[in-house]
Amino acid sequence: MSDVRQLAIAYIEKNKDRFLTDLKDFLRIPSISAEEKPDDPEIKQAAEWLAGHLTGLGIEHVQVLPTANAPVVYGDWLKAGKEAPTVLVYGHYDVQPVDPLDLWITPPFEPTLRGENLFARGASDMKGQIMASLNVIEAIMKTGQMPVNLKFLIEGEEEIGSPSMDAFLHGSQELFTSDVALNIDAGMIGKEEPTITYALRGLVYFEIWIVGPDHDLHSGLYGGVVHNPAQALCELIAGMHDQEGRVTLPGFYDPVRKLSDEERADQARLPMDEAFYLEQTGVPNLWGEPDFIPAERIGSRPTLEVNGLLSGWTEPGTKTVLPGKAMAKISCRLVADQKPADVHKQLIQYMEENAPDTIHWEVKLLQKNPPAIAELDNPGVVALGKALETVWGVRPYYRREGGSIPVVESLQRMLGVESALSGFSLPEDNLHAPNEKLHLPTWFRGMEALVHFFYNMR
Ligand code: BES
Ligand code: MN
Repeated sequence: MSDVRQLAIAYIEKNKDRFLTDLKDFLRIPSISAEEKPDDPEIKQAAEWLAGHLTGLGIEHVQVLPTANAPVVYGDWLKAGKEAPTVLVYGHYDVQPVDPLDLWITPPFEPTLRGENLFARGASDMKGQIMASLNVIEAIMKTGQMPVNLKFLIEGEEEIGSPSMDAFLHGSQELFTSDVALNIDAGMIGKEEPTITYALRGLVYFEIWIVGPDHDLHSGLYGGVVHNPAQALCELIAGMHDQEGRVTLPGFYDPVRKLSDEERADQARLPMDEAFYLEQTGVPNLWGEPDFIPAERIGSRPTLEVNGLLSGWTEPGTKTVLPGKAMAKISCRLVADQKPADVHKQLIQYMEENAPDTIHWEVKLLQKNPPAIAELDNPGVVALGKALETVWGVRPYYRREGGSIPVVESLQRMLGVESALSGFSLPEDNLHAPNEKLHLPTWFRGMEALVHFFYNMR
């Protein structure tokens, strides 16, 4: 291994404690994006903290750029020369909400070390990942020569589907022109299974409201003559899948791109079998489309999920009420070549065909993000794959991911920039759940891999 790589890795080793202290500082800022408030002080604080950190690294033109919602942190370092490629380092500094709070062993915004893990909201998804990139950039700059030009795009609204990203990019196309985006928000299959992600599912998110009587009713005085909205909603939801777990929205699967035999064979080799999902989740049995293996159902097939239900009395004790309204949050994960707007139409059609005449209904569209498929022959993807192989000593797995990262499709469509997708979060890191954590040994290995990535790009 060449000396410069070794020097950067040694620098990381020597600065481990400070890197951990910096990450903890960043994690203490409760930058939850869920409520989408443009002037949220904690969102602003996280953006400014990052801008300060980038400036400290010697990154130039650091700016906190306004969008319609959360600001984007920009910066660049373009001194590698015109011949050198430009890497767009992506990140999101926003985090998911923390509920249910009482299930956290230690408070979500008081980062706590237990064993090999650092526990905090955002530790893995993805403040820890952002800091891994920045630490590596620091290490290379301090010990050698950064071989590529750098640009930074760190957003604050990924966890709500990046609603203002397209409009923002539309006005700043030139600013973000790059050869490849480094996106380490996509995690890995397991500690010993380094992973390149080459597809992400899209997401379309709805609220369905069912309104029956114009006020809550006594369930004894009216039950039996009034169709209970909670029941009507459940009947409608129950009809959205058939007995075998297929989504019944009209035309839902029509545009779905078929898997080639070769791709099916590749997916069958991924260590994401039934046992893997039983172990990850604790469910007694798996569920889902019978004609597809779990890895395919996650990465290559669309789904419809109930994300939340609201109606009637849910506090302790009893109340005999026939609720006037019921609401469900429902979302679909989409794969190539489905379009969010078409799925919206399909849901409306389903409701028109199936909703009973005993209630009123309304479908609200909350969020829409198209799916993305990346190109595997991009030099950035190749450089990242090699880097993972150097550190882990095995060929990385190439998978289609079930989660979504909306900016990937936006960068591809609007700027022609492909993303090299990987990451060092593990399935057991409790992303979006209580007790989110970062596995520190994997974090440091990830940094080592990123040293190789940047030098491989030369
Ligand atoms: N980092 C995740 C996505 C992810 C996690 C990919 C693990 C691969 C492995 C990202 O922050 C995320 O959670 N995205 C949201 C986006 C949505 C709101 C559009 C998601 O997938 O729910
Ligand atoms: Mn997330």
